[in-house]
Amino acid sequence: IILPSAAEVGRVAAAKIASRVTEKPTAVIGLATGSSPQGIYADLKRRVDAGELSFALARGFALDEYLGIPADHPQSYLSVIRRDVVEPLGFNPDRVHVPDGRAADPEFAARSYDSAIAAAGGVDIQILGIGANGHIGFNEPTSSFASRTRVKTLAPQTREDNSRFFDSLDQVPTHCMTQGLGTILDARELLLVAQGDGKAHAIAAAVEGPLSSFVPASALQLHEHATVIVDEAAATGL
Ligand code: GLP
Repeated sequence: IILPSAAEVGRVAAAKIASRVTEKPTAVIGLATGSSPQGIYADLKRRVDAGELSFALARGFALDEYLGIPADHPQSYLSVIRRDVVEPLGFNPDRVHVPDGRAADPEFAARSYDSAIAAAGGVDIQILGIGANGHIGFNEPTSSFASRTRVKTLAPQTREDNSRFFDSLDQVPTHCMTQGLGTILDARELLLVAQGDGKAHAIAAAVEGPLSSFVPASALQLHEHATVIVDEAAATGL
């Protein structure tokens, strides 16, 4: 879906999420961080504030988390999800989960995260942004399409892209825990949003290119119910 503006992208994507939650108030929502979904959260907040929608019974699972920064660091994804999603949208914090980047045994924590998603009945609708290098979650190029939640090394470009959230590049973590591409593909519906010409190459490669582990978002082509919503700038490579 190509829309004239970034604001329209947020509105149209939010409408899809709102209709899922209206049909099923206990829906499991796959949550993404980054700038791309901010318009979605803003439009959902408008609906919540207007009394049209409630996330009180919904559940949430975030895609990913940094390793090596404290939970209360303002840029930990636990902090970001609480600030950008849980509080403004009125989720019950006990029903929203973020991979545990502080776990003593990260591999065990990663496997437990996948088990917790399955125990919740699976993700009903997964929000996704896309990295300039085609990553989704933190599944960097060469990630296996069958991968599950695990520890990954961040690509140099991702660390540079995300350095805007930190004081300097050397403060950006080098590792993360991310849902795998296989975990993401298990969601019943995928909703990827992108805005701006910086994403045009990644969107064209993901949507029109061959399936390739070098473009992790091309995995969406394998899903039976995936929607990509972009503004005109992000559509220029199509
Ligand atoms: C980040 C996140 C992704 C996000 C992507 C794009 O590193 N881990 O979930 O989709 O990179 O970020 P942005 O939306 O800020 O461009």
